[in-house]
Amino acid sequence: MLAAGRRWGKTSLGVTLCLRTALERGRTWWVAPTFPLAQIGWRVCKRLSRKIPGVEIREADRLVILPSRGEIQVKSADNPDSLRGAGLDGVVIDETAYAKEEAWSESLRPALTDRRGWALFISTPNGLNWFHGLYQRAQQLPGWQAWQCPTWENPRIARDELDLARQQEGELVFRQEFGAEFLDFGTLKPFRPEWIRYAGRDGEPEPPAGLIVEAGFDPAISQRDTAARSALVIAGQARDPLHRGRLFVLEGIAGHWSVWEQADHILKAVPRRSIRTVRIEDVAYQKALKDILDREARTRGLHVHIELVKPDMDKLRRANAWSPLVEDGTVLFGPGQQDLIDSMLAIPHDATKWDLVDAAGLGLRGFPALEASRTRLPGSAVSTPERAESYALRGRGLPLHTAITWEKYGGTRPPDLRRRAQGYTGKRPG
Ligand SMILES: Nc1ncnc2c1ncn2[C@@H]1O[C@H](COP(=O)(O)OP(=O)(O)OP(=O)(O)O)[C@@H](O)[C@H]1O
Ligand SMILES: [Mg+2]
Repeated sequence: MLAAGRRWGKTSLGVTLCLRTALERGRTWWVAPTFPLAQIGWRVCKRLSRKIPGVEIREADRLVILPSRGEIQVKSADNPDSLRGAGLDGVVIDETAYAKEEAWSESLRPALTDRRGWALFISTPNGLNWFHGLYQRAQQLPGWQAWQCPTWENPRIARDELDLARQQEGELVFRQEFGAEFLDFGTLKPFRPEWIRYAGRDGEPEPPAGLIVEAGFDPAISQRDTAARSALVIAGQARDPLHRGRLFVLEGIAGHWSVWEQADHILKAVPRRSIRTVRIEDVAYQKALKDILDREARTRGLHVHIELVKPDMDKLRRANAWSPLVEDGTVLFGPGQQDLIDSMLAIPHDATKWDLVDAAGLGLRGFPALEASRTRLPGSAVSTPERAESYALRGRGLPLHTAITWEKYGGTRPPDLRRRAQGYTGKRPG
């Protein structure tokens, strides 16, 4: 069992071990959770095995046959039927934490029994799911071994790249994805009190003129539901050179409102704050709310874009997607935000406090990252155009002109992870 950070060298190690067994005439499989991930392994597999004279590469079967007659076949675990078969000398399950447990228990484990083959489970942790359970058991079971290896063990990964990832992704995600730590995201708080910074205090600026103002709205499912409130959070992003990219939370209000009251609160806020876009979580009856809003806006002569946003992850992951923006000081809170701030600090333990947090996430996560804002962090390197460019496609960085939707906007993770997440959304817990 190997829990290792991103870019540690997991895939390379797995393929290398398969090659070693195949060179000794063994039959091995290299298994990835999905077809696209298997393709990554297949490319590594071809690259490494091409160096061996007399090797036969069968593209259609994703099969490498060595002169010893040993072989490596690349498989994807999203098709369990393709994992049937027996007589393996070794198997690597890459990114195990994102694969289904049945792939191991029902298909791969039986395939190893007759030849007493080995198995290597190799993954970046993904919360406390079955990979974690297996990792725990491996520490006690005879014949098993468990290793935990953070990304920084790989000498080829530059220190400043890691520092930047730490800053961009926030502490929790960094600890899991790079530190290879098993974290219980279900109990960890996404926000800390010491991160909260206020506009116009402690040297922080007041909201400058020319903010691009947007809002997030989280409607309560039913008015009878006494716990959940509907919540509206309004935020502006600075575009002037001095404050470029900083986010000012201007207003956060919540209440037990009927659908008409919801529409009224939103539409009264539009001229008050010059709101350009309102993002509303796209579930069930919110389509009706959009219709009401569009009609009412026309009647009142207001120009506002109402955008329905598909909820992309569970609440906690959504909060963790923007908590780095609070942690690194991009987000500043205006006066009168105590309700929102208390809510941010109360979740996930107090499940009644999600309304304002969710609305704030809808409001804040839609803004593009503007890199200039990060240069002001004490001790951080001044961002060069090259670096800005290299990160432009990563994480929150998206071109300004792009209309942001949850589909296009995967939170704070770099694209490789985003692709990964897309492939596994169905498999992630929650
Ligand atoms: N033993 C090694 N010696 C030198 N370079 C290595 C070694 N192992 C891996 N690398 C290099 O480190 C980088 C990451 O390797 P690899 O893709 O195997 O890591 P990974 O942990 O699977 O990454 P990811 O999290 O993206 O899946 C690659 O550029 C690879 O060539
Ligand atoms: Mg890999």
